[in-house]
Amino acid sequence: MKIKNICCIGAGYVGGPTMAVIAQKCPEIDVTVVDINKERIAAWNDEDVENIPIYEPGLSAVVKEARGRNLFFSTDVDAAIDKADMIFISVNTPTKTYGIGKGMAADLKYIELCARQIARVSKNDKIVVEKSTLPVRTAEALKNILDNTGNGVNYQILSNPEFLAEGTAVDDLMNPDRVLIGGDIDTPEGKEAVEALVDVYAHWVPRERLLTTNVWSSELSKLTANAFLAQRVSSINAMSELCEKTGADVNEVAKAVGMDSRIGPKFLKSSVGFGGSCFQKDILNLVYISKSFGLNEVADYWEQVILMNDHQKRRFAAKIVQTLFNTVSGKKIALLGWAFKKDTNDTRESAAIYVADYLLNEQAEIVVYDPKVKTEQIYADLDYLNTRSSEENRARVKVVNTPYEATKDAHAVAVLTEWDEFIALDWKKIYEEMLKPAFLFDGRRLLERKTKEEIGFEFYAIGS
Ligand code: UDX
Ligand code: ADP
Repeated sequence: MKIKNICCIGAGYVGGPTMAVIAQKCPEIDVTVVDINKERIAAWNDEDVENIPIYEPGLSAVVKEARGRNLFFSTDVDAAIDKADMIFISVNTPTKTYGIGKGMAADLKYIELCARQIARVSKNDKIVVEKSTLPVRTAEALKNILDNTGNGVNYQILSNPEFLAEGTAVDDLMNPDRVLIGGDIDTPEGKEAVEALVDVYAHWVPRERLLTTNVWSSELSKLTANAFLAQRVSSINAMSELCEKTGADVNEVAKAVGMDSRIGPKFLKSSVGFGGSCFQKDILNLVYISKSFGLNEVADYWEQVILMNDHQKRRFAAKIVQTLFNTVSGKKIALLGWAFKKDTNDTRESAAIYVADYLLNEQAEIVVYDPKVKTEQIYADLDYLNTRSSEENRARVKVVNTPYEATKDAHAVAVLTEWDEFIALDWKKIYEEMLKPAFLFDGRRLLERKTKEEIGFEFYAIGS
């Protein structure tokens, strides 16, 4: 079975880049990305490809090549579903904020709405692909809705979790370590559906990297991969605190440990805490599923990764307060970086949000500079915490357009995202324009201690 028309529901950080690359690599397949968010679709269609809603190195060029040829962005969800033989579901699955499983389970309401819409609209057989990260056995729920509310057409459900990391999405999509496709491989129809998706990826991914499994393994592998990665960050962050007490240096420890080929060097960079839309959400999911099966030890084991991460964010903020003579009340603190990592404008679960919130509770005046994050996003992130009124957040947090505006007259500067441009700032000028003693807190191990101390900064870096 050859796929001719793909529809992707959800034009976000996963759906947008993934479909752009599929369209670029498969010129004979029409790819339509749909979203209910009109502004988002308008931005994807902006004549100037630099204005697409997601900042990812290399993405604008891919969109430029494919858009209008075989890549389309639209708000007409029904039409795209109707036309497609393969439908990717790539909508958001946030952690539930209400009811059973609040704060833990994934909220599947957007997925369910998609399923009901697909069932209502479809007039011929479809392959439905779960792209969003989902709890194990969501495919079963999807199938149930489609089969029971549909027009009698046949559905095959595949799980094709996305492993791209933000900031390197295009590269990760072009050269994936593996592509995982889960399907009903015990039936001929299921096998055929899996093969159809394998053929799409085989346009550019070597066959030996296309891994096919049953649906549950695929769903669980995604959660497991993210849990393992997050666990490595929490592990090295746990060591960072011990390093600070013992005189060891966490970078040296990470290097020594990572050179063991069994351990490997990646994901051992100590930081102010991991963020992003996946790690916390997926682990909470894992914890929730484990608990629901009565596997309390398994649940507690993974929950600790999050507790450690929360501790790291709090510890960093507390260090600032403690260093500034135990009070930041009325003091100006400059935060450099708001995104959860460099090279993205995504701020979901960014450590910066929690550090800012902590400092605001201590009555600090916050000034933020981030090269890619929009001002309104910063306020929205703080408002979402519901710690104080929206008016108060706006009164106490200022967002500026240059790092020098942020740091001028500040008591302290904290680096919260590892943007490359922060390395090359004129740190001498920053020092001269700050209040003294000038404190510099490096939450990313980005800056060189020696040169900063020579300038005159009181320098603190995570894990040393
Ligand atoms: C992650 C997974 O890597 C990806 O495979 C999955 O599809 C989605 O979740 P992402 O959240 O985009 O991707 O970014 P990632 O590079 O994994 O970083 C997550 C967080 O961990 C960031 O806040 C990052 O700064 C932090 N991190 C990462 C560290 O603090 N130290 C490290 O060594 C690595
Ligand atoms: P991710 O990081 O998983 O891509 P995003 O939040 O960036 O998540 O993107 C998900 C997108 O899905 C949002 O733009 C949202 O508007 C869209 N979406 C959610 N529900 C629906 C729906 N029923 N139909 C179409 N689009 C939807």
